[in-house]
Amino acid sequence: MTLPLISPMQPEDLDAIMPLERLAFADPWSRRMYLSDLHENPLATYRVIRPANGVDLPPILGWGGFWLLVDEAHIATVAAHPEHRGCGLGEMLMVDLMERAVERGARVATLEVRASNLVAQKLYAKLGFDVVGTRRKYYRDGEDGLIMTTPELDDPEIMARMDAARADALARVARCFSDGA
Ligand SMILES: CC(C)(COP(=O)(O)OP(=O)(O)OC[C@H]1O[C@@H](n2cnc3c(N)ncnc32)[C@H](O)[C@@H]1OP(=O)(O)O)[C@@H](O)C(=O)NCCC(=O)NCCS
Repeated sequence: MTLPLISPMQPEDLDAIMPLERLAFADPWSRRMYLSDLHENPLATYRVIRPANGVDLPPILGWGGFWLLVDEAHIATVAAHPEHRGCGLGEMLMVDLMERAVERGARVATLEVRASNLVAQKLYAKLGFDVVGTRRKYYRDGEDGLIMTTPELDDPEIMARMDAARADALARVARCFSDGA
């Protein structure tokens, strides 16, 4: 069994990502926004989950990225393919982004999440993010954004959570994708 793999996002991945982006978000990013980050922003890191070779699945199963702002990784976006949610892909991607952020020198990770997005909030809480504030009417439709932030990423408790989440995600991904689901 070969599991889906995470690798850097390439501009050509956007052909598959853009329709999914519109399904995943009420205020989707444009191709131009992604391209500008991919080509012109050295502080941006974007990753995608691809199915294992030879398996009949969509070319992109998940995508996400962060900006390194001084010593803080700002998670810019994260999403799993709408037909493959609950399979550990979002968690696998978040752990990967946090690992890449540590590699790039981030001390903490932070993000905004819609107040109504309880699924994503649960994922972030599992990884050690705490709600530290609210940005009133942060989203274009007027919804509030919750600010969620990790403690120091080298804190043993966060590292243990990441280890547990990585193992949990891989087990779940293996269950979902072992038969090419
Ligand atoms: C948020 C999102 C990325 C989660 O991805 P996913 O692959 O479905 O999630 P996973 O299978 O990796 O689940 C990991 C954790 O997320 C949370 N979660 C996932 N699905 C959930 C659900 N239906 N209900 C409640 N919590 C859920 C849980 O904490 C879960 O771990 P647990 O079951 O051990 O508690 C996915 O729902 C998504 O793409 N949503 C649309 C885009 C979006 O809202 N992105 C976040 C923007 S801030």
